[in-house]
Amino acid sequence: KQAKIGVYGLGTMGSALALNFAEHGFDVAVSNREVDWIPDFVREAGSLGSHIVPCETLESLVGSLAIPRVILFMIPSGKPMDQMIEKVLPLLDQGDTIIDAGNADFNATRRRFADLQVKDIHYVGMGVSGGEKGARHGPSMMVGGTTHSWQQLKPMAQAIAAKFEGTPCVAHLGPDGAGHFVKTVHNGIEYADMQMIAEIYGVLRDGAGWSAHDIGTMFAEWNKGPLQSYLIEASAEVLHAVDPETGQAMVDVIQDQAGQKGTGRWTVIEALKLGQSASGIEAAVGARSWSADKGARELAQSILSGGTLAQDVPDQRTLAAAFEAARILAHAQGFAVMQAASEEYDWALDLAEIAKIWRAGCIIRSELLDDLAEVLGQKMPAGSLVLSDKLQPRLDTGIPALRKVVGAAVMAGWPVPALSAVLGWYDSLRCGRGTTNLIQAQRDFFGAHGFERVDAQGRHHGPWGTSET
Ligand code: 6PG
Repeated sequence: KQAKIGVYGLGTMGSALALNFAEHGFDVAVSNREVDWIPDFVREAGSLGSHIVPCETLESLVGSLAIPRVILFMIPSGKPMDQMIEKVLPLLDQGDTIIDAGNADFNATRRRFADLQVKDIHYVGMGVSGGEKGARHGPSMMVGGTTHSWQQLKPMAQAIAAKFEGTPCVAHLGPDGAGHFVKTVHNGIEYADMQMIAEIYGVLRDGAGWSAHDIGTMFAEWNKGPLQSYLIEASAEVLHAVDPETGQAMVDVIQDQAGQKGTGRWTVIEALKLGQSASGIEAAVGARSWSADKGARELAQSILSGGTLAQDVPDQRTLAAAFEAARILAHAQGFAVMQAASEEYDWALDLAEIAKIWRAGCIIRSELLDDLAEVLGQKMPAGSLVLSDKLQPRLDTGIPALRKVVGAAVMAGWPVPALSAVLGWYDSLRCGRGTTNLIQAQRDFFGAHGFERVDAQGRHHGPWGTSET
């Protein structure tokens, strides 16, 4: 039979998506580079097997699809995707759609989109969030590509997507790299959120001597209120888990070196290229990178003095309020990066729509996103999320708490790079008159770069060298 969609790449995410399509009644043709994975997958599919068309080759996969074809690839990003395009291209016809559902660099997606557009092959960069469970039972999906390919994909994507109060968490966000860009920023926010949770865990563990279990219990409590989020829930659960081998808390036997596949770093790089700085995300990426250097850290612990002053750990309410403010700021930075990209690439991104499709299915889903969806749908002063009146009361109570936590951490020497980075941004934002007038003077002094005056138009130079020092 003619399948509605092809899924190539039967790893964890690809298999889960294929089963999700099948469960929603779509016939799916599947294939994989290692052919022996295919019968295993069909076995795993069980009764859903009636909707699965197993194909041993790319040729047979293409051959078993209804025209115009839609093929979703869930394979490693980068070179493998370019090689795959080269292989599949001769088999396709005009009007067919290739979907890259992995975490790809949006620059590569833009390039591939443009290369294929001239051949009338539609290239979709689709961010898929929610891990294996999400992919199997309802992911959040961020789609970039042509209207033609969205029309092909839409009924299937809406059927398999997570639902927030009945609304599918999938949207066509823009052309070419828009979907992958938004997914990258999603991951950047994910990094910042995870890092800030880890910083609060660190303050309680190292500053107050709390057990992993007790910290987990606190997060479980937080998860019942305005701080509800999947990442808080997941943190509570992992902090409560016990290692079956040693009986210790699981987190206590896990090495403190974090991996990263690149999306957080891409967010920071793209933010900087766009003249933005998502400092909370940057701190989170940096913290993972520093964590890799375990040897140096162990040595430094015995060599470097802290010059610290003993501090009481702020109470739980203060920690919660601080975290709430910091999360709002980190999200605001992420949305500002997307706004800048939207202008730069002419994407007309609908930020409210993005917040909406992040309300369920994805890793950063939270109560907060529900509020942000509403705020982003209204006009924001100076286009800034933090200036909206809806968020003001929350920041008004959260910021003093964030100062207390960051202040205590600075004095006591507990590392809080992400919490302090977003506070630094907030305070810079509050300065109607900042200090870059001095930077401008310095630039003009040594490089004659010129500056603007507060009281006159045009480019000016200072009287450097003529004044007395
Ligand atoms: C998601 C996740 C998912 C994954 C990334 C980030 O939205 O489902 O973001 O895409 O966790 O691979 O992973 P790293 O932490 O390894 O960069």
